[in-house]
Amino acid sequence: MAEVILRDVTKAFGATLAVDRLSMTIEDGGFVVLLGPTGADKTTTLRLISGLERPDGGEIRIDGRAVIDETPAQRDVAMVFQQYSLYPHMTVRENLAFPLRSPILRTPEDRIEQKVREVAEVLRISGKLNNRATALSGGEMQRVSIGRALVRDPAIYLMDEPLSSLDAKLRGELRLELKRIHAGLGATLLYVTHDQVEAMTMATRVGVMDEGRLVQFGSPREIYEDPVSLYVAGRLGLPRINALPADLFAGAPSGASTIGLRPEHIQQGEGRPSTVTRVEHLGDQTRLHLTLDGHALVTLTEVHTKLEPGDTVNIQPRSALYFDAAGNRTR
Ligand SMILES: Nc1ncnc2c1ncn2[C@@H]1O[C@H](COP(=O)(O)OP(=O)(O)OP(=O)(O)O)[C@@H](O)[C@H]1O
Ligand SMILES: [Mg+2]
Repeated sequence: MAEVILRDVTKAFGATLAVDRLSMTIEDGGFVVLLGPTGADKTTTLRLISGLERPDGGEIRIDGRAVIDETPAQRDVAMVFQQYSLYPHMTVRENLAFPLRSPILRTPEDRIEQKVREVAEVLRISGKLNNRATALSGGEMQRVSIGRALVRDPAIYLMDEPLSSLDAKLRGELRLELKRIHAGLGATLLYVTHDQVEAMTMATRVGVMDEGRLVQFGSPREIYEDPVSLYVAGRLGLPRINALPADLFAGAPSGASTIGLRPEHIQQGEGRPSTVTRVEHLGDQTRLHLTLDGHALVTLTEVHTKLEPGDTVNIQPRSALYFDAAGNRTR
């Protein structure tokens, strides 16, 4: 496994600037999660590292080597694509074995068979090894794609939303497996997801992207508790952080135009009267939708609350994040 360094990497498609001076270090053995909305250039970033796209400027280093002139094979990266791409005429077993049959690796047959079995076991597809790739469900195809990366021992795994089409139970299980693989192999991973539970539980570092720029890079806890902007604050946390006019409550620092309140920042019982508009029972948590001076906000309340729409709840900030008019954090 290896350290991967991006320095001022830039990529345009025609006249449109996509990746904009992106600098980031993925430490050896790190698990970096990239977060960002659709179109933020997450996939493009992975393609630049894997060698499927060539940057217009900047530097990419894998294990100390400048790799921009290397082919994808030379870079020794294993990528799980967002759109899974299996060889349709091959069985699952053959698909999984394929990367190991590359002439560069020269893996012995018995080693290939053993590795394929191990990976199939981890991904819960042992029963499907003889199926053709076309005779699988979407979630099974996705697991075979992950498997084709996991059979290898590359410098870095690049994974583009690898668990997105799985049901919640399987996603939870594979999340633990990936984390176990990461710890066990000391693997280096760069992982794209929209799922904040994945980001919070698996990442050693989270990188938040906005239109091709890396706007914050830090531990999941730093990103959650100490976001540099409202944009970053909105990437983690469910229910989402409430963004309200700063003067809705007393005590806003000068220069603040928005108060950002996560559910745990809202104390119920004292403060300003708000009106319950909806009570959402999700089983393990209950969300309380409120309005205050015409502004909607969402928080959590007791699971078996007796509150109903129309009730009044007094609320006040217990601590808060403040942002200026441009959305940057004020301190
Ligand atoms: N080959 C290409 N030619 C032109 N534009 C491209 C090309 N590849 C990507 N883009 C553009 O770059 C932008 C970023 O695309 P990218 O696939 O990296 O986004 P993403 O962050 O992975 O989004 P998603 O979450 O939807 O997968 C998009 O606006 C897209 O249209
Ligand atoms: Mg993408």
